[in-house]
Amino acid sequence: MGLRHDEIWRDTDGRPIQAHGGGLLYHDGVYYWYGENKDAENRPADTVGHRVDVIGVSCYSSTDLLTWTNRGVVLPASDNPDHDMHPSKVAERPKVVYCNTTQRFVMWLHIDKQDYRQAATGVAVADEPAGPFRYLQTIRPAGLDSRDQTVFVDNDGSAWHFASSDWNATTLVSRLSDDYQSFAGEFHRVFVDRKMEAHAVIEHDGRYWFLASGCTGWDPNPARSAVADSIIGPWTELGNPCTGPESEITFHCQSTFLFRTPDGRVIAMFDRWVKEELRSSRYVWLPVEFADGGMVIEWRDSWEG
Ligand code: DGJ
Repeated sequence: MGLRHDEIWRDTDGRPIQAHGGGLLYHDGVYYWYGENKDAENRPADTVGHRVDVIGVSCYSSTDLLTWTNRGVVLPASDNPDHDMHPSKVAERPKVVYCNTTQRFVMWLHIDKQDYRQAATGVAVADEPAGPFRYLQTIRPAGLDSRDQTVFVDNDGSAWHFASSDWNATTLVSRLSDDYQSFAGEFHRVFVDRKMEAHAVIEHDGRYWFLASGCTGWDPNPARSAVADSIIGPWTELGNPCTGPESEITFHCQSTFLFRTPDGRVIAMFDRWVKEELRSSRYVWLPVEFADGGMVIEWRDSWEG
């Protein structure tokens, strides 16, 4: 039985899954879903915008992409007020990749202050996929601002960080170091002045495919898509790949990750934000079809695994 998009997705203990702005990793026959644990009351919106205090990054595991076991908060908030993972800060869009060279699991996430002016990225590592993760550092790519972000590992083992930069006007593509724990010093501005957030990248059939949103806070907007022959571009925009009811506002969702299953299918993962009560935000997962040189994401009522 699938997971209906109009229902709360629950873990094997029956609790609502808390893995927002998340991503998937497949390792040794197991899927790991990492995301923001937002299981707290919203702060009053008139003072700080729609936010909950940072709890940390959750991890869930599954062997069928439908049944999810809670593996706990694998990168918890810190009780040190000076730490970038303190509950008063912002920690969003965690993505975990596995580094073959170091045999470590490396998490990258958006680190910020409540006014989103710190605009940095955080790095944490673990020896096991379900953590615990150890926070290493907060950095900025080439010293530039970095907000919404994702990480993509290419077939040749190179890893790439995609982030909103230049006050979200531009997407910055940064090569990671060989251990995936810092930047390698190679930076590329793409989609200049196209104002995107919620980036996701995947390789399919020898080409690179990109999914993102516009910049409208927690509110939905038309998704963006693009294709390129090289990860650093040039990228060709393909417009909104969504079809079906409310596709013009991405089914009331915002992208968070593109995932390729071991059998070669591509899944688009979205958040359906509930900004007044962020802990109740939902998940929408849809298959991506590639046809006539484009990508298509068609609405379905449920995720069938
Ligand atoms: C949109 C981003 O995609 C989210 O991750 C979050 O940062 C909100 N903006 C905050 O308004």
